[in-house]
Amino acid sequence: MLAVISQWLHVAAAVIAVGGVAFVRFVLLPVSESIPEEQRPVVMGAVVDRFRQLLWASIGLLLVTGLYNVGIAAISGLLASKPYLYALIAKIVLALVVFKIGFMLTVPGDAFASVKANRRRWMTINFVLGMIVILIAAYLRRWVVGE
Ligand code: HEM
Repeated sequence: MLAVISQWLHVAAAVIAVGGVAFVRFVLLPVSESIPEEQRPVVMGAVVDRFRQLLWASIGLLLVTGLYNVGIAAISGLLASKPYLYALIAKIVLALVVFKIGFMLTVPGDAFASVKANRRRWMTINFVLGMIVILIAAYLRRWVVGE
């Protein structure tokens, strides 16, 4: 039962995080360009403040449930098969890169100013990497069900 709840929370957090990045990048950012330039920082600052809560909570949940999933994979002997193990390592490394970029874009204050100045580009990169993580997850799942 705990395994089902963990899987549910993991997928839900992934949907919210990657979906949230897609919404901000492909809906909010383009629309924000129609706002008068002097008001833009105020509006986008408020967006980042709200989005940070959603993103950081999702990252926390992905880490906790992801580690639990790794535990389940270890117990069930999946880590002994090399294709599964290598794909899982690639997924975790990529996920950590996605978390780092998300953190750099949303951390309060002046840190990572050059990344924040190129928000559009970094959000596109993060969305694409997030989609690749989901692709690897699909591969891992096929491995589990034996296809
Ligand atoms: C951007 C971050 C992440 C995304 C978008 C993501 C997404 C997903 C998705 C969609 C699944 C498929 C679940 C299913 O088939 O029911 C999955 C499975 C899994 N994830 Fe993640 N995940 C992320 C981060 C992590 C992290 C940080 C870890 C480990 C610390 C992790 C470990 C796992 C494991 C072990 C599975 C089970 C794979 C299997 O055997 O089917 N994930 N993930």
